Amino acid sequence: MTGLFISLEGGEGSGKSTQAKRLVDYLGSAFPAREIIRTREPGGTKQAEAIRDMLVTGSADKFLPETEALLMVAARAEHIAKVIQPALLRDAIVICDRFVDSTYVYQGLAHQIDIASLEALHEFACAGLTPDITFLLDVSVEQGLERAKIRSDSSADSESRFEEKGSAFHAKVREGFLSLATRFSDRFVVVDASGTPDETDKHVRNAIKDYLQITAPAGSVPAHAE
Ligand SMILES: Nc1ncnc2c1ncn2[C@@H]1O[C@H](COP(=O)(O)OP(=O)(O)OP(=O)(O)O)[C@@H](O)[C@H]1O
Ligand SMILES: [Mg+2]
Repeated sequence: MTGLFISLEGGEGSGKSTQAKRLVDYLGSAFPAREIIRTREPGGTKQAEAIRDMLVTGSADKFLPETEALLMVAARAEHIAKVIQPALLRDAIVICDRFVDSTYVYQGLAHQIDIASLEALHEFACAGLTPDITFLLDVSVEQGLERAKIRSDSSADSESRFEEKGSAFHAKVREGFLSLATRFSDRFVVVDASGTPDETDKHVRNAIKDYLQITAPAGSVPAHAE
């Protein structure tokens, strides 16, 4: 498959959505001729967004971990087949706010579903699609939940089901992501996301520049530089 598939991972409020938007702006100025798609999980298609609604609203313990895992994978199958794979085949850059690593961490390491079963489901429903590069935005649990709370309070956001799972759960999420970053060190870049959005943005840009071997600053990169 051609194209470039970038995922952003991390706990609640780590800055994934903020950095996903900034990455679109940066790559758009670096590669003006290239199609760039920003999308998110769970979600990204009409059917997958309907599954998202079930997953991210309501009480923290309303689903069995197994049900939650199957719904996540079902949404991902729709998303890959209808959005991500076609875009990559068109040679687009796809920037995805959460992807399979969130399932390994939330449903696997934090909810104790066997990772081998989740990998088998990913193979079955999603052809095992893996990002080319995964940014792990790492912040402390307290800082992430604080940011997520400020965002929820200011935006009439009802998507708080995972935020409500408690700090022991979120500590497992953070550790889980860091252990995946070690296991899949060929594609993970761990970014210190505790600073300002501009500071985090700089880390992400530097890493993507290294990955793409861009040497000139954003905006001055000619379209043929790729
Ligand atoms: N580096 C930062 N410093 C301070 N605030 C930030 C930073 N990055 C993002 N924020 C703010 O924190 C809140 C959460 O950020 P954002 O929505 O990007 O996180 P997220 O990782 O997408 O969270 P979620 O997992 O809940 O979707 C937002 O209000 C955002 O404006
Ligand atoms: Mg977000």
